[in-house]
Amino acid sequence: MKITVIGAGSTYTPELMEGLLQRAEQMQIKEVWLYDINQRRLEIVGGLIQRMNQAQGEPFAVHATLERRAAIAGADFVLTQIRVGGQQARHDDTIFSLGHDMIGQETTGPAGFAKAMRTIPVILDICSEIRASAPNAWLLNFTNPAGIMTEAVLRHGGVNVIGLCNGPLGMQMNIAQQYGVGHRDVDLDYMGLNHLGFVRRIWVKGEEVTQGVLETMAAKAANIPDLEVDAAFAQSLNMIPSGYLRYFFLEAEMLKVLKAKPKTRAQEVMAIEETLLRKYADPDLKEKPPELEKRGGAYYSTAAVELMQSLHSNGGEKHIVNVRNQGTITDLPYDAAVEVTAIVDGRGAQPLALGPLPTAIRGLVQQVKAYEELTVEAAVTGSYAKALLALSNNPLVPSVNRGKLLLDQFNEHHQLGLR
Ligand code: G6P
Repeated sequence: MKITVIGAGSTYTPELMEGLLQRAEQMQIKEVWLYDINQRRLEIVGGLIQRMNQAQGEPFAVHATLERRAAIAGADFVLTQIRVGGQQARHDDTIFSLGHDMIGQETTGPAGFAKAMRTIPVILDICSEIRASAPNAWLLNFTNPAGIMTEAVLRHGGVNVIGLCNGPLGMQMNIAQQYGVGHRDVDLDYMGLNHLGFVRRIWVKGEEVTQGVLETMAAKAANIPDLEVDAAFAQSLNMIPSGYLRYFFLEAEMLKVLKAKPKTRAQEVMAIEETLLRKYADPDLKEKPPELEKRGGAYYSTAAVELMQSLHSNGGEKHIVNVRNQGTITDLPYDAAVEVTAIVDGRGAQPLALGPLPTAIRGLVQQVKAYEELTVEAAVTGSYAKALLALSNNPLVPSVNRGKLLLDQFNEHHQLGLR
């Protein structure tokens, strides 16, 4: 088996490697190819990955390359974890959005739109490479905004794709810890979109525990400023929302918190990454350092490796992933990307039927889905008018006129070439 990591210079790669090493034999991994456009990062991260591999007796070969074609050719799995424009672009998008009094967050709201517009052309280009030289490969996408990337690939990529986020697994892990069981003992009735997901019901070892969890659990994530949602509202919602719902439920308060922060999350991450890269460059380091936990992507490796294992072994396990809806959520478009529970085996991810969205969240989820569809259309056509329509459909953009000013800023700064 050949596994290719696109954007392997990411500081997350050692975490992924840890999981691959644990399952090397079981999954018959023969080659891991690390590809990046940043030579310095590829050398530093690739060096640590080589040492981790050697420390475990070299179960597979590791290749680090700046040649994308060689990395992808003949791959069984291609993992995309890219960040077009780097953390600097994330910072700029945040500042531009906050400057117009809109939420500055890299997946949700207008900054997520800018990131999508920069990233969709690159992901679709990677897809054309996969079609040419690894047509049977599975593209497992971690690149944000993960829901929109999946939507773009499903509609225009022409490859086998599953979109992944560590968020739902994080929810499962929290509940598992609370009940002292393994995360595979926790079953979630989960529905929605990426970073817009809701848990309706929960079972631990087959026994329903929904009410117990609802009473004790708030949806928290390391990289989202903490604010409690009103208790009466939470009770009437009667579902556990993804932590990212704070940006919608508490938009005004979150905007205030973000504006008051001395640094953007991008600046915080840049500092964390510099520390990590200094550590990774140490020739005596042979394992993932604990500082990696300061980033938000906990369980990234578990999510990716368990998914690959199910696809490879025809396992039929349940995973919460981003896939084509196919009527699973009855009031979202058939072809749209949704984040739901699916049975994963050699054929791919088959989503479990869910029915209609609860009325309390139907409007929001449908509107965000419309925004996502329009964003993909705008990126693929390069149409300014479609981009404005897309951005205006984002619920966190309160005015078309202000949205237009922001769009002009994104267009010029990132040279999106919208006309
Ligand atoms: C969470 C989100 C991801 C995000 C990650 C890292 O896990 O679900 O979408 O990329 O955190 O966030 P950070 O702010 O550390 O880059």
